Amino acid sequence: MMARVAADYFLRPMVAADVAGVERLTDEAFLDLDVRTRRPGRPAPSGRDRAAAAAWRDRAAHVLEGDPRGCWVAEDGSGLLGAVLSMRRDLTWLVATYAVRPPVQGRGVGRQLLGAALEHGSGSLRAMVAASDDPVAARRYRLAGFTLHPTMLLRGVVARAALPVVERVRDGSAGDLDLMDSVDRQVRGAAHGADHELLLRSLRLVVTDRPTGSGYAYVAPGGGPYLLAATSRRTAADLLWECLAASSPDTPVEVRHVSAANEWAVDVAMACRLEVWTEGYLGLRGMKPPTPYLHCGFFL
Ligand SMILES: CC(C)(COP(=O)(O)OP(=O)(O)OC[C@H]1O[C@@H](n2cnc3c(N)ncnc32)[C@H](O)[C@@H]1OP(=O)(O)O)[C@@H](O)C(=O)NCCC(=O)NCCS
Repeated sequence: MMARVAADYFLRPMVAADVAGVERLTDEAFLDLDVRTRRPGRPAPSGRDRAAAAAWRDRAAHVLEGDPRGCWVAEDGSGLLGAVLSMRRDLTWLVATYAVRPPVQGRGVGRQLLGAALEHGSGSLRAMVAASDDPVAARRYRLAGFTLHPTMLLRGVVARAALPVVERVRDGSAGDLDLMDSVDRQVRGAAHGADHELLLRSLRLVVTDRPTGSGYAYVAPGGGPYLLAATSRRTAADLLWECLAASSPDTPVEVRHVSAANEWAVDVAMACRLEVWTEGYLGLRGMKPPTPYLHCGFFL
């Protein structure tokens, strides 16, 4: 199953032994991108620390195990050049990550990789990707039929005096898996399924389950939301406040991947004096931007 794509490199399906190498090459590519696109006021790019790299490898191995046909690498005699990881959840195709090593970008490797992954998505009604600020990625995704919705990054030290008392949110557990899948289907058209089991092992989960609205959020390390979904804006705002309250009083927190459809999150950010920046795109096919919903970069 090896496809020759040029004189000096090959595409092949990714295997478990590639996970560590793919972690390193994606870290290299995204660090290079962060340096190229860094804007005033943003922290210096640093790449993943050991804990983040280990968490990334766990997530990549999970996607590969469930969707081996959605995961491809490019390599030549020197080693891995690039990779794409994608998965199907219900009738939605999702791109988890996509990168080519900086020294070989612009040689057509990325086009070949995305083309191979697109086969895995054929037959899906919908598709989602959290696209970076890289104009080359935007070109590749648009040419693959994605509509690019610009997204915001809300960032800063939370004004503690603005934090409301949130009474409707409780800590979640594996007992909430059905609730979360049901909210996911309602809001983004596809459940996360086994992704929730993986996320539950590494992140704190908070849940609201009331007649007036249900939802959940995973709290990012250091506070802020990693992934948030709800059936009403009021519930979503409660969950976001809970995630923001988990930040430390003097360290900036980030709320990423906010599409214009999620103005409720911008209003929360205004109330606690976070800054609004633009960062990347939500690339969608066959669907509108989900709301109330704050996707995560990897599992969407
Ligand atoms: C996005 C990425 C995976 C693409 O891989 P690649 O091997 O560099 O891409 P390709 O060489 O196949 O394609 C590059 C395309 O961009 C075009 N291009 C080059 N420079 C460009 C620029 N500054 N602006 C817009 N397009 C540009 C090329 O002409 C080519 O288009 P074409 O094939 O239609 O002629 C790779 O650049 C990368 O790793 N970027 C950093 C990480 C990232 O942002 N990943 C996406 C995460 S969502």
